[in-house]
Amino acid sequence: MEKIIIDTDPGVDDAMAVLFACLSPNIELVGLTSIFGNVTTDIATRNALALLEMAGAEHIPVARGADRPLGQPAKAVAADVHGVEGFGDVPPMSPKAAPLDESAADFICRMVNTHPGEITLCPVGPFTNIALALRQDPGIAKKVKNVTVMGGSLEEGGNVTPHAEANIWQDPHAAREVFAADWPVTMVGLDVTHQVVCTPEHFAGLTDAAPKLGGFLNDAAQFYFAFHRKENGIRGCHMHDPTAVISIVRPDLFGCRDCALDVIVDGEKIGATVAATGQSGSPSKVCMDIEIDAVRDLFLDTIKTGF
Ligand code: RIB
Ligand code: CA
Repeated sequence: MEKIIIDTDPGVDDAMAVLFACLSPNIELVGLTSIFGNVTTDIATRNALALLEMAGAEHIPVARGADRPLGQPAKAVAADVHGVEGFGDVPPMSPKAAPLDESAADFICRMVNTHPGEITLCPVGPFTNIALALRQDPGIAKKVKNVTVMGGSLEEGGNVTPHAEANIWQDPHAAREVFAADWPVTMVGLDVTHQVVCTPEHFAGLTDAAPKLGGFLNDAAQFYFAFHRKENGIRGCHMHDPTAVISIVRPDLFGCRDCALDVIVDGEKIGATVAATGQSGSPSKVCMDIEIDAVRDLFLDTIKTGF
């Protein structure tokens, strides 16, 4: 059983990742931490609580994260990709539970210190909360099991600029700190997530099998499909965030390259992830190959076990 904290900016594909984690028999979801990116941190916190309530998992805590990046003004949220409220055209929900009276960074440090060697941190939004936790308690670097990030791109180019992936571009300084630290990092970036596409038919099948959870994902995905059709000419959508979570429980479905990483923090290529030169941190594992059908089927089959 993998103990995971997902740091998230929900977000349509974030919803896929969180519901997958709630339903996977191989994951103990220790908590969610919220971050700006696809939506504001306020909306991300509300949406994180709503996803857990929807899954009947309201006992899982949510800790509110940072409101802004570490080293630059906040960028606009991605309303064109995920809708103004985060789940496409699905109306905003009003979850009953409240977030913890503890910041995301405090929660991450407390959990990693309570369960040394057991927790995988999985940021699927900008890495601000992860960098803040590390600044606050550098000792957690030796106590996390792994830091598995959705973000970046080594050879695939960007998705918000020709060079930058969205989660890195939103807070390049935080990403640089996370990649430079001496802890084990696995990067699940566009090199692999651009290879996985789910179609409208795949999502319609989720509604049939699991009307509440699958039906919600299918409804939310319609807006996401429209964005992919317009921007990428794809009939379907990429599965960025669930792919990162799947890599934690099924690393055998991925082929990785060892590479120390750095992030460009200014100029035309701001937000690009590049191979580091002369860096002291351990090399990251960068996912470059993926068993496409197996990853997609694991996602779909797991959601279909829901209700
Ligand atoms: O580039 C893909 C990432 O950006 C995903 O995490 C998606 O949710 C958006 O935040
Ligand atoms: Ca995300």
